[in-house]
Amino acid sequence: MVKNYCIVGTGSRGISMYGESIVHHYSDVARLTGLCDVNAGRVAYAQRRLGGDIPTFTNFQEMLNSVECDTVIVTTKDADHDHYIVDALQHGKDVITEKPLTTTAEKANRILRAEKDTGRRVRVAFNYRYAPYKTEVKRLLKEGIVGTVHSVEFRWFLDTVHGADYFRRWHAKKANSGGLFVHKATHHFDLINWWLDLEPEEVVAIGSRQYYIPERMSGHGERCSTCTITDRCPFYLDLANTPNLRELYLDHEEYDHYWRDGCVFSEDIDIEDTMSALIRYPNGIHVTYALTAATPFEGWWVAFNGSRGRLEAFEPEAMVPNGELPNFSERSHRPGRQAVDWRFVEEGHVPEFHALTLRFYPLFGGVQTFSVKRGEGSHGGGDKRLQDDLFRGVNDDPLNHAADSRAGAMAMLIGAAANRSMAERRFVKIRELLDPDLL
Ligand SMILES: NC(=O)c1ccc[n+]([C@@H]2O[C@H](COP(=O)([O-])OP(=O)(O)OC[C@H]3O[C@@H](n4cnc5c(N)ncnc54)[C@H](O)[C@@H]3O)[C@@H](O)[C@H]2O)c1
Repeated sequence: MVKNYCIVGTGSRGISMYGESIVHHYSDVARLTGLCDVNAGRVAYAQRRLGGDIPTFTNFQEMLNSVECDTVIVTTKDADHDHYIVDALQHGKDVITEKPLTTTAEKANRILRAEKDTGRRVRVAFNYRYAPYKTEVKRLLKEGIVGTVHSVEFRWFLDTVHGADYFRRWHAKKANSGGLFVHKATHHFDLINWWLDLEPEEVVAIGSRQYYIPERMSGHGERCSTCTITDRCPFYLDLANTPNLRELYLDHEEYDHYWRDGCVFSEDIDIEDTMSALIRYPNGIHVTYALTAATPFEGWWVAFNGSRGRLEAFEPEAMVPNGELPNFSERSHRPGRQAVDWRFVEEGHVPEFHALTLRFYPLFGGVQTFSVKRGEGSHGGGDKRLQDDLFRGVNDDPLNHAADSRAGAMAMLIGAAANRSMAERRFVKIRELLDPDLL
């Protein structure tokens, strides 16, 4: 059976992850029947990229009322997800939403209630769960390799390419993204919830902006395109000469003044780049979490300590291995930025890297290793496996990869609790954030 899908938010993710995949890879089971964006230029561009006859809209209600649609795919900026999810549910549609489910506890409650009232279904596109390496962590934990889990240590590193990108555009304002504790860490908190198969109890957090601060770059402008110190800024993004970004953003600025090249040192930024949280789970499990958005490399590291031993996973994602590259353009692309295991890079030597290893250290000695081939494609192979699940479905999924609205809420509520904890300097219980009828 072919299902009809509409997309609201035809930016980077809407076009590439959903639009192009439906049109080019899932047309036997999925049909794109409508495209909507507040930016008339960008939605017209999406139509040109995806196929000239897909109807376009700048008004969501109009799209819902005029095209056949079973499922709405929500890929707008984070703070607007709730509005479209609730509207779609109330129109009798199912929803696939990008992460984070939303940006505040109030909005999460609204979504959960609308889903309950309408009986329709919300799926949250937690692609990280589907990356084979992360799936293997889940499998080993489910088999009980570490015994009873006592604690988890989780660190995530964003480099000066990917990390910086959050400080250039809408993500840099908490009102749009919830900050990186919500926008980015929702992936990580969802992984922890899913790996442990538990819901969090309470959170305490600290965070600050340490690197992307105005004082670091005196004389900086509002955006790269009009800046006068581009020759000495390691974050200069030449939008006009970056074809994919020019066509998607610069060419349509007149409609909404969305700058894709805002200054990463802007005075207006209000999100943190350095964050730590302690999260308490049932059974006394504690989790220590840290996220840094300006490190020399990209990747993550997690460890589970339990009654039988310790399981460690480590995925180095990217690094500039051959000397410093203060030029942003050179630093962002190959051969500058590469997928290498940065622990073993030496001057003049960049080792090949194909497989990821999980290491289990039994409590009383020895080690067991599990090798996982690197997933092909974006997000460690997670995007492709998620698309297969969303559009074709899977018959049997004992590891429960599919994330529902409750999982989406639990992941973003840790971030919302962390934000509240930072503001009020106290432990925040997840129960405080959920309406009593939704507990
Ligand atoms: N799962 C992942 O790994 C992953 C990766 C990237 C982005 N995302 C998520 O995808 C979503 C989109 O991110 P992106 O990188 O494509 O951003 P983007 O800026 O490229 O696109 C956002 C689009 O939403 C539109 N928009 C903004 N406000 C709107 C509104 N009120 N109504 C309708 N359209 C609106 C913008 O015009 C733009 O076209 C975000 O929620 C983001 O968190 C997820």
